[in-house]
Amino acid sequence: MARIPEDLVDSIRSQADIVDIVSDYVTLRRSGKNYLGLCPFHDEKTPSFSVNPERQIFHCFGCGKGGNVFTFLMEHENVTFVEAVHHIARRLNITIPDTNREHEAGSEAESLARVTRFAALFFHERLLEAGRDSIVRRYAEQRGLSEQTIKSFGLGYAPDSWNDLLNAARKQGIGTDLLVKAGLAKAGEQRTYDAFRKRLIFPIQAPSGRVVGFGGRALSDEDQPKYLNSPESPIYRKSQVLYGLYQARESLRRQGRALVVEGYMDLLGLHEQGIQGVVALCGTALTREQARLLARYGQQAYLVYDSDQAGVRATWRAIEPLVESGLWTRVVRLPENHDPDSYVREHGPDGFMKLVEQADSPADFMGYHANLQASGERDEVFRTLAGLIRNTSNLVHREMYREEAERRFPALQGLLASELRHPGRSGRSGRSDGQSGSRGPGTDPRDRQAVPGAAARDGGERVERDLVQLMLSDRTIAELVEGQLEPHDFKYPLYRRIVEKCLAGLGDGGSYDLAGLIDTFGDDEAVRVITELINTSDSGVNLEQRARDHIVRIKQKRLKESMARLMEQIKQMETGGRSDELNDAMATYMELKQQEKVLLQSARGG
Ligand code: UTP
Ligand code: MN
Repeated sequence: MARIPEDLVDSIRSQADIVDIVSDYVTLRRSGKNYLGLCPFHDEKTPSFSVNPERQIFHCFGCGKGGNVFTFLMEHENVTFVEAVHHIARRLNITIPDTNREHEAGSEAESLARVTRFAALFFHERLLEAGRDSIVRRYAEQRGLSEQTIKSFGLGYAPDSWNDLLNAARKQGIGTDLLVKAGLAKAGEQRTYDAFRKRLIFPIQAPSGRVVGFGGRALSDEDQPKYLNSPESPIYRKSQVLYGLYQARESLRRQGRALVVEGYMDLLGLHEQGIQGVVALCGTALTREQARLLARYGQQAYLVYDSDQAGVRATWRAIEPLVESGLWTRVVRLPENHDPDSYVREHGPDGFMKLVEQADSPADFMGYHANLQASGERDEVFRTLAGLIRNTSNLVHREMYREEAERRFPALQGLLASELRHPGRSGRSGRSDGQSGSRGPGTDPRDRQAVPGAAARDGGERVERDLVQLMLSDRTIAELVEGQLEPHDFKYPLYRRIVEKCLAGLGDGGSYDLAGLIDTFGDDEAVRVITELINTSDSGVNLEQRARDHIVRIKQKRLKESMARLMEQIKQMETGGRSDELNDAMATYMELKQQEKVLLQSARGG
């Protein structure tokens, strides 16, 4: 994207209202001269995120993030400065002149990303400006979609026209060929036309937040197909994307539990009712990659598919990838003729969560749906369960699935025992007692001074250092860390900075370029530490298990610190006599304790 003249940037900044923009993403409430809300950049229960309309800046007193309207968008939407400026310009109807735009096109993926972002905004704006009586607004209302949901998921409207999007794109200098490649336009015999017409649009976002594709629902029964989905493209690999993951990732980390549903509307319906941590498939079967993606954020997966035959079949196929990815997997049974959306609308969030709490084990699910009188089917169930148990890498889970299976099918007892005595795969140790000194085999024992002022390393520093080292040596570990920790979980500034850059370097599946990473550091100290870490890293075994151990240790340390801080506050509140605050603080304290328990449990199993 072209550079934008500085005076134009200034003008856009001065016309933008930060309260307005931030309100698209955060619920703000007035508090004196400022506005307050829950910080979108870290996890919190009480608002410490403040927006100052006078000075047009935001600041979080919890995590320390702050900046102006551009910084906010860059951080929140994961976009570049220029993109943030464009975004606001569009909202303000300010045209940014087109200087040599096409010449700076960059890679094809970048161009496509620009096209999908443009289209997402185009659709979104069409929905926002649609009148109350328009077909799309009536439809949204009928489906119970609130303004807040429309905004946080960037829902849109593809107008009933053959070329609205094409024309708008042309004005921005976006070529028709790119629209076709992104699946947004189709090349017909005579002319090219918009692919999505007269549809409610669901932008599909990669885990980073970047829009990579679209789903579109027909607004009336005559229009077919009911759902239209973007095709794959260089930026859209269907097997690697889950709808709603971007919005759900904080809750997934917090709850450790994902609800997996089949449809866009199921996810949005649950979201409307305040149920968090939901992801949806986009018209495909659940893949191993998607399961692994989920496993980065949490430890448990609940399948909540439609109760019809297709839903049961799809559930059957989704269990295996989830279990194999180490997710503790449950199946939620919905009554006949229900999907999650219809059920939650009828029974409310509590009714829905009751079903979740009663979820079935895989064995119960299979026992319920198979015709066990037919010996062929029963053998099939036994085989499937045995395979599932054999391929469960988490040893605790394996034992538990086995117990469940044997409880459901006593006939399995002898069979499964011998399965487990002769595991299908060899060489899996899986041991993690969660308390051994953090040194995995081959950790560099030389105690060099890698951090200024830390002559004698304490345990915390050692853990952070080792984890950074593992991240540098292996992209998948960096990805693991991305799902589990934030840079600010690292206490040592130098490591925190390295982690920040490592994670930024992950991008959307681009190359993980260490040489490039080094370039981005201005100072020698960081570069020295990085190169030292890379040079002393061993290619040892169980890298991932070591990384998981470190992550648990860091999480536990942060939890303990939070609890200690909270305890201080609680003591003060007890004397200060603010009982509502005190109750909140105590509830939070109990929740942190619970989180610690879950964390250690999962570590023992992992
Ligand atoms: P369903 O047919 O179960 O629809 O499709 P739904 O989610 O209940 O939708 P509403 O409530 O009628 O609006 C579930 C998912 O299957 C994919 C879509 O991703 C949809 O969300 N699908 C369905 C398609 O891709 N194409 C279709 O024609 C239908
Ligand atoms: Mn439905």
